[in-house]
Amino acid sequence: MNTIFSFIFHLLILIYFPQKNMALNPNSIPVESKKLFVPPLSEVAEAINNTLKTNFAEVSVEVVDCPDLRQQPFTLASEGLGGNTKIIELGGNPYLLPEVHREKYYDLKDIAKLVNSNPSFIIGAGAGPNQYVGVNCEGVYNVMIADGEVVNQSTRISKVDSNDDKSIQEILPKNETRLALLGNLFFSEGKPGKVLKVHAKKRTGDDNFITSIRKAIVAKYNDLVGIGGVFLMKEGKGKFHVMRDFSKTPIQNEEQLNKWLKFYNFSAPLVSVGTLVNSDGGELDLRVQHFHTFSHHGEAGHYHYDTTPEEVEYLGFFNVGEMLYRIDKPVNTHNWGRD
Ligand SMILES: *[C@@H]1O[C@H](CO)[C@@H](O)[C@H](O)[C@H]1NC(C)=O
Ligand SMILES: *[C@@H]1O[C@H](CO)[C@@H](O)[C@H](O)[C@H]1NC(C)=O
Ligand SMILES: *[C@@H]1O[C@H](CO)[C@@H](O)[C@H](O)[C@H]1NC(C)=O
Ligand SMILES: *[C@@H]1O[C@H](CO)[C@@H](O)[C@H](O)[C@H]1NC(C)=O
Ligand SMILES: [Zn+2]
Repeated sequence: MNTIFSFIFHLLILIYFPQKNMALNPNSIPVESKKLFVPPLSEVAEAINNTLKTNFAEVSVEVVDCPDLRQQPFTLASEGLGGNTKIIELGGNPYLLPEVHREKYYDLKDIAKLVNSNPSFIIGAGAGPNQYVGVNCEGVYNVMIADGEVVNQSTRISKVDSNDDKSIQEILPKNETRLALLGNLFFSEGKPGKVLKVHAKKRTGDDNFITSIRKAIVAKYNDLVGIGGVFLMKEGKGKFHVMRDFSKTPIQNEEQLNKWLKFYNFSAPLVSVGTLVNSDGGELDLRVQHFHTFSHHGEAGHYHYDTTPEEVEYLGFFNVGEMLYRIDKPVNTHNWGRD
């Protein structure tokens, strides 16, 4: 009798308050989540140490207490990369290519709530809020949200000036927490704690800094491992892109894509934030690495690789993710344009 009463009672609650049943999904965005494999940092350090040596002349990888990342040159919106760590992928390239899906955008305040992240220190790569900027742009996300309020907004956007093709970096206002189309973000509580410190100098191989780190975890782990963080290109120059405003005609292939993107050579010091994973997760259809870059001299965009192997020097701080969230995964997917 009690069970029947309880059943009917809960059924009525569901009928009258359907949103209560969707607490994890207030905006009906499809969400898939998965526990990531969390190896000890010391083991990851050893793996990266070994792989990076095949690509750089000088390498050192250690597990250290995270330095205060609010300091120059990093100027992140919180001090560390610790606590409740998550790798989050929003949307995807199929919402940009071949044609833009303008209705696809996300408010990071909602996403923080959706994935139970509070306080929520968010860093990474995404399409910037064209709704605010007025044109399509790159987003270099770097924001601290606590109890639904923005505590520190240090997110930059980069757009292409339609008059002279120069890139323009701007910092977003405090109340602008939207991200359009696609994003690869690392969420944490922004707390101090142990992190991987990766230092590499003088590139001897063909892989970029992140690909080289990624190859280490590809070789070492079969289970899904995710890493997020920040790296400084201390010396050297590199190839970056900034998306122009949305194309009026569909972009059908890499060749058309590379004509539409505006490429730049940017110079150190450059700070990049983003994520990498050791596989696309099969059905999860993950973008395996994605970093966006800002600077204190006006240059910002999407990181491809350095172009000065002799001079280049990198210093990165990373942490491993505990959970992965794949949010609003495109149904009709394709795997080009993810470089
Ligand atoms: C990295 O390799 C060097 C030897 O090349 C070794 O001395 C060092 O302990 C290694 N570091 C880690 C974290 O494995
Ligand atoms: C936000 O963080 C940046 C970088 O750490 C710092 O320079 C700035 O003063 C902070 N702003 C606020 C409002 O706390
Ligand atoms: C942010 O604040 C400005 C000025 O008060 C307002 O015009 C704008 O609509 C707000 N933006 C958002 C996304 O709420
Ligand atoms: C960047 O620099 C390289 C080497 O100097 C040059 O070949 C390339 O054309 C430059 N790219 C851009 C977009 O300016
Ligand atoms: Zn990008």
